Amino acid sequence: MQPVNGPMNEISPVTDAAPIKPVPTLPDAQTVTQVTHWTDRLFSFRVTRPASLRFRSGEFVMIGLMGDPNPETGKQKPLLRAYSIASPSWDDELEFYSIKVQDGPLTSRLQHIEPGDQIILRPKPVGTLVHDALLPGKRLWLFATGTGFAPFASLLRDPQTYDDYDEVIITHTCREVGELTYGSKLIESIRADEMLAELIGEGFADKLRYYPTTTREESPKMGRITDLMRSGEVFADLGVPPLCPETDRAMICGNLAFNLELKDLLESYGLEEGANSKPAHYVVEKAFLD
Ligand code: A2P
Repeated sequence: MQPVNGPMNEISPVTDAAPIKPVPTLPDAQTVTQVTHWTDRLFSFRVTRPASLRFRSGEFVMIGLMGDPNPETGKQKPLLRAYSIASPSWDDELEFYSIKVQDGPLTSRLQHIEPGDQIILRPKPVGTLVHDALLPGKRLWLFATGTGFAPFASLLRDPQTYDDYDEVIITHTCREVGELTYGSKLIESIRADEMLAELIGEGFADKLRYYPTTTREESPKMGRITDLMRSGEVFADLGVPPLCPETDRAMICGNLAFNLELKDLLESYGLEEGANSKPAHYVVEKAFLD
């Protein structure tokens, strides 16, 4: 966004100068540094990180833009939504992964941001998809649909994820192949990242298993993850036993119907839901939909 007032210099006629209007500054403003459009329905972006912001991988913050002025009062209110932070806690910037909804109040506008623009970011991270909400275990399952991949993009770059578990399995179910790209590129970059290997420990990526599936477009593995679990196909493919409370921990992030169905399924394996205040076997959070 452009500043309203141009710079003054010695040839500016002081007397004729336009009345100085205050520059509209957003509350909790952060600057967009990068935007990537993955499909016509998905994009990711990076913004500056407030120096004081500390967060745990998997948490979310409220972000947004100023709403349209109220027709009667002319007042503007921030239009905010919960967004999982997709970047790891050691990163200098913050990354977000978003859907574009053409008539969505926020994302219809947010999808047009460009580097240099400002967004509002309330620096109060919260959320349940955190390591602290899980008891120690052997194998961590991360179950995502659509933009529900975002919190896991953070957790998958957190050293604790690999320190705490022998094996980390991420499943991602989308309608179409193109919707898997953000996730598959991220997995690829994690595997090739020498700095991460130094930070987390050589060979850490061997613990990481990636299981993408699609439901409406042909791909090497088709089907909803819930169906693939019920049939046992996912366990056969990965060569692991079905989940059990002794060894397996899980985090769920996707659309509401998916979250509920998977919750039931995990409970049928004997897993219990955990929280920050009472760690247990699995945790769940809704992916943002505008
Ligand atoms: P499907 O195409 O069979 O509905 P969406 O884009 O609507 O949020 O969906 C993302 C993915 O989640 C889609 O592949 C969709 O499959 C899948 N999905 C939707 N509901 C469920 C559910 N109850 N259980 C498992 N997967 C689901």
